[in-house]
Amino acid sequence: MRSLGNGLVLKPFAKSDLDTIHAVERRAYAVPWSYGVFYDCLIARYDCQALWRGEQLLGYFVGQRVLDEAHLLNLCVDPDCHRQGLGELLLQEWLLLASGSGCKKALLEVRVSNVGAQTLYRKAGFQQIGYRKGYYPALEGREDGIVMALALPQALSASV
Ligand SMILES: CC(C)(COP(=O)(O)OP(=O)(O)OC[C@H]1O[C@@H](n2cnc3c(N)ncnc32)[C@H](O)[C@@H]1OP(=O)(O)O)[C@@H](O)C(=O)NCCC(=O)NCCS
Repeated sequence: MRSLGNGLVLKPFAKSDLDTIHAVERRAYAVPWSYGVFYDCLIARYDCQALWRGEQLLGYFVGQRVLDEAHLLNLCVDPDCHRQGLGELLLQEWLLLASGSGCKKALLEVRVSNVGAQTLYRKAGFQQIGYRKGYYPALEGREDGIVMALALPQALSASV
């Protein structure tokens, strides 16, 4: 658990949080993850962290670390709380966690249509390193994905 000021707290998911998290997921994405995907990520001990203000869930991330690479699987902010800097905050917390545990590279995929998220990632220093045709399920058919990467500094540390 990590206090981030302004009443914001970052905490690992508990199983009892999953209904709340999944409710935000369903509102935030046209094609959301299922409850089961969140459950599997929790059981697999991925980096599953949620941002709270009191009882209010503001957002969350799910990341996976493999050797010296960190992969962002989900980053989401409650649609009622967009453009308040929370996505940037969550992204920086994930990067801090990854670099603090020795990861040298951060990777992610983003839908070609998701220009807002791409802007957030580029602002953090991510650059496109690949393109995956038909990577994502869409409401109709499939959608292409952009692969982005960022080299991580090694001096950061976090205690989430
Ligand atoms: C993408 C997402 C996490 C951004 O969260 P957020 O809290 O609104 O983002 P922030 O307020 O931290 O934005 C930081 C910067 O990112 C960029 N940005 C974020 N959303 C943007 C948008 N819709 N359009 C353009 N730029 C955007 C801007 O540069 C912004 O800085 P500014 O507000 O000073 O201009 C949020 O829109 C979201 O949860 N979307 C649904 C889920 C999703 O698509 N996740 C990403 C999957 S790859």
